[in-house]
This record gives sequence, C-alpha cells and structure tokens, in this order.
Amino acid sequence: MELFGKHLICTQEWAKKDLDRILELSARIKKFRFSDHFGNLLKNRTFFMFFYNPSVRTRQSFECAATELGGHAQFLEPKSMRLKTKKSAGETVEDAAKVMSRYACGLGIRMLEDKVAYYGHGDEVIREYAKHSTIPVVSMAHDRFHPCQGLADIMGIREHLGENLKKKKILITWAHGALARSHCSVQEAMLICSRYGMDVTVAHPKGYELDEEVMEWTRENCKQNESEFNLIHDPKDGYEGAHVVYSRNWMSKDAYKDDEFLKSAEVEKAMGYTDWICDSEKMAMGEDPLYTHPMPIDRGHEVTDDVASGPRSIIYDVAENRLHVQKAVMAVTMGNL
Ligand code: CP
Repeated sequence: MELFGKHLICTQEWAKKDLDRILELSARIKKFRFSDHFGNLLKNRTFFMFFYNPSVRTRQSFECAATELGGHAQFLEPKSMRLKTKKSAGETVEDAAKVMSRYACGLGIRMLEDKVAYYGHGDEVIREYAKHSTIPVVSMAHDRFHPCQGLADIMGIREHLGENLKKKKILITWAHGALARSHCSVQEAMLICSRYGMDVTVAHPKGYELDEEVMEWTRENCKQNESEFNLIHDPKDGYEGAHVVYSRNWMSKDAYKDDEFLKSAEVEKAMGYTDWICDSEKMAMGEDPLYTHPMPIDRGHEVTDDVASGPRSIIYDVAENRLHVQKAVMAVTMGNL
C-alpha cells in the first residue's frame, strides 16, 4: 500500500525494493494477462494521458493498460486544455493539476524535444504538476527521464539474461540519425541498468554529453554494486565484451538556443557521424549480445536492418513490456492492489 499515490518521474527516485516489486508484478501480469485477478484494479477509474508530443507505443500501451485493468484512459493534448503560456492567457498548471486530480486516478505527461524551451524545462513542468496534484503523476517521457521505458528495458534484459546481471555489460551508444531525440530513454537505461548491477559503458562523440547529474548517479549505482562504469568516445571499442547493445541517436548539448529547438542543425550535424551505427561487424566483437532500442528506430542510421530484425534483437519484447510494467505501476499507485 505504501506506493499508492506515489509519483513516478524517474526510477532513481524509487527504492530498489519498490522497483523489484513492480518487476515481479509485471512478470505475473504478463503471464496471467487477462486473468480476473487483474481485470478490476482500475474499475470505474480514468487515467489522463497528457501528450505535448506524439507517441506510438506510450499512448497505445497506456490505453491498453487502463482497459485491461478495467478502467479507461483519456487522451489529452495542449490544444484541448487552454493552458497559460508565455504567449497566451489561460489556466495555470496549479489550477489544471488540482482540477484534474478531482476527476482521474492518475496523470501521465509527455513533454520533450520541440515542446521544451531548454534542457530541463520538461522536468520542471512535470514536477510542477506533481507538486499540485493529489493523484500520482507518471512521466510518459520528458526531456530528462522515461521511467516506464527504463522498467521495460530491464524487464526485457532480465527475461533474456536472467535476474542476476552481475558481470553483464551493456553498451549504451550514441548513433547517427535524423530524429534528434531527447536524452530521456538513454538516461533512464543508464540508471536502471546500473541499479540492477550491470557494467555500463556509455559511448558518444564529443559534444553529445549527457546530464552530468545522471552520469554521477550512474557512477554511484555502479560503485554500490561493485560494477564498472566507463565513458568512451569511440564508435567501436565499447562493443568488446558486451552482453547487451543499446544504440540510440540523441541531441547534442547545443540543441536549444534562445528557447528554440534547433532540429535541422542537429540532424545535419549528427548525419555526418556515419561510423556511429550498430552493425553486425561491431556486434561480433561482443559476447553474442542482445540488441535493444526503445523505438522508434531510425533504421540504416542507428542500426542496420539485419541487427534490428536479427535473432538477438529484443526490441519487440521490450516494446511489449511497456504494457506490463505500466499496468503494474498503475495497479500499485492508482489501483486496488
Ligand atoms: N519508446 C517510446 O516511448 O515510444 P513512443 O515515442 O512511440 O511512445
């Protein structure tokens, strides 16, 4: 019961025992997906999904999750909300959060990329909602964190490598691509994989540095688990000895200027780094590694088709796990479990 009403903005803010509980429950929910035991946990309750940015997996999996728990998910976007902005009068976050709390059992928010004015802006907004909400707020991906993706990643890795991940190495590598994505998924993967005892190597070209605070938390997680953390700037070296490879394009530190997201410049710059692609030649340097990616994938840039669709790819298992971990999170924070 102690998780009822708790916000989920970053997995690092949850105790390890609570993450363990979510993963255990997710596994049961996956095994007995349509059992009556789970079918009424959100009966008569509505989950609000507030999307500033588009989504495939997150919207679909949260909507299915609410349905399968016996509840309902309502899709909201800024144009349906009349919120106050820098340019227009409207409702404050405080008023919106307090009113939404009177209707729904939980509030998911997505805010990243071109919908934030600077790195950390989305994190500020979601925490402002959380401050004024009396229902749990869940990040559905914001500029810093994507907790449900992190939970799905580690669930998928444990399904394939076993629950003891000691001495298992994950390479989280930047890759070139035309999507210029936020740091949220990779930062969450660094945190949760280090939390679960994996050796973590992060690789990126100079200029694509991640959040220094998240790097520090990852180093600290590794230290506590007596595992290794490495940061490198080479497109190949990190594959040596890897058990899992996670390639992903993310934006550089120069992506925002004067409150604007410079997407075209980011894409043009990133597309010059053609060596930064996950391919079968590099994968052969690892320990028959699994391949994972949070999706959507920019195939041919972030990863070659033969790896993304190959026998060691777990991308669809991880995408499926989004549904199961979100059902578990909703059941314990918003439901009757
Ligand atoms: N991984 C993920 O969050 O996918 P969507 O952007 O499609 O929701």
